[in-house]
Amino acid sequence: MTHPAQLGVGDSPLVHMMLLAGAPQRILALRLAMSSVIGPSSVVLDAGCGSLGVLAIMAARLGARRVVAVDRGQLDDARALAEENGVADRIEFLECNLVDLPADTGSFDVIAGMIYYNEPRRDLAQQQLMAGLATRFAHPGTAFIPGTVRYTVAGYDSAGPDRTERTRQDQWDSAVGQAEALTGITLAPIRQFPGDDYSTFMDQLSLPPDPGAAQVRRALAGPDKTLLTSRELFSEIGYADPATAATYPAALSLSVTAPGRLDTTIWRQDLMFGDLLIRRTDTTHPLTPPRDVQPGDNAILSTGGGWGDAIPVTIGRDGRT
Ligand SMILES: C[S@@+](CC[C@H](N)C(=O)[O-])C[C@H]1O[C@@H](n2cnc3c(N)ncnc32)[C@H](O)[C@@H]1O
Repeated sequence: MTHPAQLGVGDSPLVHMMLLAGAPQRILALRLAMSSVIGPSSVVLDAGCGSLGVLAIMAARLGARRVVAVDRGQLDDARALAEENGVADRIEFLECNLVDLPADTGSFDVIAGMIYYNEPRRDLAQQQLMAGLATRFAHPGTAFIPGTVRYTVAGYDSAGPDRTERTRQDQWDSAVGQAEALTGITLAPIRQFPGDDYSTFMDQLSLPPDPGAAQVRRALAGPDKTLLTSRELFSEIGYADPATAATYPAALSLSVTAPGRLDTTIWRQDLMFGDLLIRRTDTTHPLTPPRDVQPGDNAILSTGGGWGDAIPVTIGRDGRT
């Protein structure tokens, strides 16, 4: 087994196994996306196939006639799994950096690339890498999985009240939004918060407290903080137009919606295939300096050229900064 110190380049079978076990919705969404575009004539690139090569094997099992699976990490386990699943003759495994993929590798009908760090600064390079693959190896009908990488951002007070004070209305809105993204159907008639019925129902559902489980859930859910600003779109990259991946905006303005001390941002990455949500993750970045804000203010984040340990923020009031 790979020693933890080696994790990050290629990752280990353990990491990829945990990803399968820990995020089943992700792999189901990927399977659904692939099954909608892969047929017997398909040629598929699995960019960053991981040590298990799961997407490549799924693509071959869905009938693709040729699959190229690339990772800069070791692929011995992936080769063994392809053999076990009877598809080794249709998958070429290449151990190399994706930027070095030879031009004569071919043109692909489907390019799958789950190579993101779920963190905006590191993901700019990954998005540019995928856009480079799109420029070099796609044709007009190529499907990209994911096809869109969207980052949105909002601000909060890291020392502020947590979600025990957050209304259940917010939780309901978030649940309905996710259900819409996963099912692809709109839910307007049930978008209205069911009020006391919902609270009673949730109370009846609540299990005896288990401090360990609660901690894990909290870590997975990200900071349970009340937002002080609007959530705004930061970037939306669509590989059908690789130019959209070139750069990030130099600045972003958030509207302050509640008074407080604004010191942190929460960045949400949505990996989409059409309107299908493949993966949603949240990461946080501190702001510098922390600012006392009130409704009507605008918090202007300096995001050009990436940022260091913290994102510089200025406050605009009455249209002036
Ligand atoms: C999170 S794993 C995803 C594995 C698999 N595709 C899946 O979805 O389950 C990301 C993989 O992308 C690979 N990767 C990231 N950047 C790469 C690059 N520039 N060249 C080759 N592989 C890369 C990593 O080595 C890692 O194995």
